[in-house]
Amino acid sequence: MPKGAVLRKFLFILIPAAIAISVIYAFSDNRNGYLNKNVTKGDITVFFGTEISGGRAHLWSDKKSGVLYADTDKSIDNGFTKDVSSLHFTGKNVNGLFETVVSLSPDENVISETLPDSIKESGRKYYELCSTCHAAAEPNRYAKHRWDGILKSMQQHGGISDADLSVIRRYVLLSITN
Ligand code: HEC
Repeated sequence: MPKGAVLRKFLFILIPAAIAISVIYAFSDNRNGYLNKNVTKGDITVFFGTEISGGRAHLWSDKKSGVLYADTDKSIDNGFTKDVSSLHFTGKNVNGLFETVVSLSPDENVISETLPDSIKESGRKYYELCSTCHAAAEPNRYAKHRWDGILKSMQQHGGISDADLSVIRRYVLLSITN
């Protein structure tokens, strides 16, 4: 084959491929990171700290089908919600929790690149409200299962609202690394 023909053949494949890739890229949702505030869409509220990839929220619960929790207290590792058709259970199971994906497409400005950045704001609330009477304990100082009892008793001591306590609780549990 003459050189020119090889080149033409090459371009014939290369140019459409380049166009296809840029079209796919333009329409793909490349919002990745972690929510830095709660995002509500219809019946679903997805909590801050939730991982987002491709505009979809990745939630974890001990359910593998049906309805996720409407009770936010039960769903610290995920979001929470009533029955919604947009939930998609992926079948992935890590540490006994099942993954559910929700199409969310949140704005760029509610996404932080890293988990620590996404929970910074709630950390401020924790250190502000929990260090008025004593130094605030580092979240790692107590095991996860001890925190609910501690927070309930401190809510009464400090007259902390339910809304603030749920932010604090999520901050503490997301911050525990051990
Ligand atoms: C109004 C004052 C006050 C506020 C506000 C307060 N605490 Fe306390 N905290 C106390 C007192 C008093 C104790 C010791 C007596 C007790 O354990 O009930 C204590 C003890 C603790 C302990 C030790 C418990 C143990 O079992 O050893 C932890 C942990 C703690 N607080 C965390 C917090 C957190 C988290 C917050 C914010 C949600 C908070 N505190 C807000 C007064 C407060």
